[in-house]
Amino acid sequence: MRIYSENMSTGKVALIIGLGVATILILQSEDPLDSGGNGYQIWRETGLLARAVVCIITGVSLFVVGWLHRLLFGPLVLLRGADDVGYIAEDGRSRAQAANEVRRRRKTGELPPVYPNGWYRVLDSHMLPRGEVKSVSVLGEQVAVFRGQDGEAYVVDAYCPHLGANLAVGGRVVGSCIECPFHGWQFRGNDGKCVRIPYAEKVPEFAKVRCWRSCELNGQIMVWFHCDGEDPQWIVPEQQEIAKGEWVYRGRTEHFINAHIEEIPENAADIAHLAHLHTPGIVSGVDLRYTNSKTWEFLRHDWKVQWKPESEPNKHCSQMLVKHALTVFGCHWPLLDVRVVARQVGPGVVFLLFDHSFLGRGVIMQCVTPVEPLLQCVAHTIFYQSNIPPLVPKFILKAECIQFERDVMIWNNKKYISKPLLVKEDSAIQKHRRWFSQFYSENSPRLQHQRDTLDF
Ligand code: FES
Ligand SMILES: [Fe+2]
Repeated sequence: MRIYSENMSTGKVALIIGLGVATILILQSEDPLDSGGNGYQIWRETGLLARAVVCIITGVSLFVVGWLHRLLFGPLVLLRGADDVGYIAEDGRSRAQAANEVRRRRKTGELPPVYPNGWYRVLDSHMLPRGEVKSVSVLGEQVAVFRGQDGEAYVVDAYCPHLGANLAVGGRVVGSCIECPFHGWQFRGNDGKCVRIPYAEKVPEFAKVRCWRSCELNGQIMVWFHCDGEDPQWIVPEQQEIAKGEWVYRGRTEHFINAHIEEIPENAADIAHLAHLHTPGIVSGVDLRYTNSKTWEFLRHDWKVQWKPESEPNKHCSQMLVKHALTVFGCHWPLLDVRVVARQVGPGVVFLLFDHSFLGRGVIMQCVTPVEPLLQCVAHTIFYQSNIPPLVPKFILKAECIQFERDVMIWNNKKYISKPLLVKEDSAIQKHRRWFSQFYSENSPRLQHQRDTLDF
């Protein structure tokens, strides 16, 4: 979000400067400071219309140069809203109406628990400058994520235990504490303890806000969730190339998906869908009604995939090994063969590691964070070798995004089948379900079924 707004503000500044200069140039018929230089003379003698044309051409050129600069060197940022992708809006309905109807009408199936135990991304590090607080919805809760003056990121329940004000809405960071906007109580970030009540003589021992276990690495702030409040059973590995600055940030995408969280990682073990859903070239787009159109048939992706869980002590990890080949008019282009290792760490984080002979090395981190029981926020963030032109990782991220959005259209509209009708070739799906079940425990929250409120 921040990168997006940074881009916007750069654009706005350029526009304001451009408009200011253009106005001065157009209106300036006589310059009192002009000592009579030739250039100014010609400008003064030029008509208002011609001046306006020159200014427009200059403005457009500046805009094109800015656009090219962003294209070549800026990060790729694609933020999709909850109804932007994967719904069919026909018969004059808006996308939002189509999405709402699908969400209300869909059969959910017999769902596994909705919030598996594990680490989840809440924000990217650059979204939270020192001294700022952000409101985030995660795992059905509202949390306040703030960065103390000590540079540490802290995550606490958003609602103040005093009278329930939201600490993230108007709250102020004081040292390593967050101050409530309502009566000024201050809570420490590292343990949630209230350290100051401005109008009380004594702070009671029990005055505390719930504090979430968090960590910050790979440019992301993560929280640990366990339904019984148990301590983390594993840590998220740090990607050394990111920590050392050898791989740099080149962009991110964000999607909201209406599905159970398990549907998303299960895709890795669903080998058969690759040949069907992901084979049409990326130029065929994301709308599954048209991806098999004859126009783009000459471009095909071929996939060879294997999925396997890792063993102790990394049984919370699994790996998908992908070999991708591109064919154009049936001809294989070996230079574009790509091997990817997609290593899943717990229910919410996947590292897609690229290693290519001349396109370089890098990682896309796919982070799935449940917002509500059936609403997942999925972020893809790419870090890539700093000496490779940014266009390369941006293209990789865009290609990944197109393929991913085809899955989104399936997920947004499907039902979860607890006892799927599988053939032998689908066996990895069952293995994946067994592997994933380790993240549920007896008290893992389940979807509370609500009465159907639809009026027909
Ligand atoms: S509600 Fe937070 S200090 Fe009163
Ligand atoms: Fe897929």
